[in-house]
Amino acid sequence: MTTLLLTPAEAGRAAELLRAGGLVALPTETVYGLGASALNEDAVKRIFEVKGRPQDNPLIVHVAGPEALREWCRDVPETAYRLTARFWPGPLTLVLNCRKTGDPYIPDRVTAGLDTVAMRCPDHPATLAVIREAGIPIAAPSANLSGKPSTTTALHCLHDLTGKVEAVLDGGPCRVGLESTILDLTVDPPRVLRPGGVTLEQLREVLGTVELDPGLVQPGETPKAPGMKYRHYAPAAAVTLVRCRDAEAFRAYGESLPDEGTAVLCWTGEEALFPGKRVLAYGRGDAPETLAANVFAALRELDAPEVKRILVRCPEETGVGLAVVNRLKKAAGGKITCL
Ligand code: TXA
Ligand code: MG
Repeated sequence: MTTLLLTPAEAGRAAELLRAGGLVALPTETVYGLGASALNEDAVKRIFEVKGRPQDNPLIVHVAGPEALREWCRDVPETAYRLTARFWPGPLTLVLNCRKTGDPYIPDRVTAGLDTVAMRCPDHPATLAVIREAGIPIAAPSANLSGKPSTTTALHCLHDLTGKVEAVLDGGPCRVGLESTILDLTVDPPRVLRPGGVTLEQLREVLGTVELDPGLVQPGETPKAPGMKYRHYAPAAAVTLVRCRDAEAFRAYGESLPDEGTAVLCWTGEEALFPGKRVLAYGRGDAPETLAANVFAALRELDAPEVKRILVRCPEETGVGLAVVNRLKKAAGGKITCL
């Protein structure tokens, strides 16, 4: 299959392909999504095949605005609309009860048979235009092969998906750089199932009490978002995630590793500390949003055959840093080395 590369001006063509049951990689403010009509079971099935995604991992449904909650969900609490008023369009996904009667409803293939459905309104003009023009809800996981780092440019999507999908819509690099925050509103108090672009601090401003899913923080607890239990976001090289006091401790640890086969993912300003090694800065340690914006692209850039190990400097878990650490921990097989 030939994969078309579309521009934002061709949103209408993307909508047409989706309505006809095709797969189109779409830009969002978080990461690229691999879209299909959420109402077309065959198209949704193809998403799982193309990505190599486990069947028990449900998809997020992308919609144009809060009115879609009334259409596809039931028993929507008032808090949902308070959140959409503040954060939509934007990197917040809401888990709500799914309407399973009437015609049509979001099929089990999208929700992996759960009673709930994850709903999100992405903040990207081209993709909002596609959703509106298509007039259907769009199911879309991140547009990467399962297990690999998520895609934040059209080029990354082409790398993973050329020949397997109808089109990639190039909307430029993603602003946030990692996935949306998933908030479960079917429990009280609401729970964050995946940290992301909207921070815990921001959610607490609107909701007061918000909990973190125990599966995110307690070893041995199963995460409630099925996708959070898999090893993820991982380049072929082993990732060693290091938490340390200062740049000197990080430098000394790096020095103890062989130059050959070791790459270092550091903060801006630390590049010169590792002579002889391949080094890449992924953002500023005091500005976690810059780390978020670059982390997946950096992991992809260092994913070269000669790189056997990637040493990564871990940020603080405040603000969007919580999401950055969550993704890096997954890439590192769950382990942080504390110096
Ligand atoms: O920013 C994002 O959310 C991106 C862009 C493309 O929108 N999408 C994304 O999708 O990250 P994906 O498929 O890579 O991750 C979706 C996560 C998975 O961990 C999945 O298990 C969880 O959402 N999920 C989906 N439906 C759920 C539900 N009803 N209950 C709990 N978790 C759910
Ligand atoms: Mg994903």
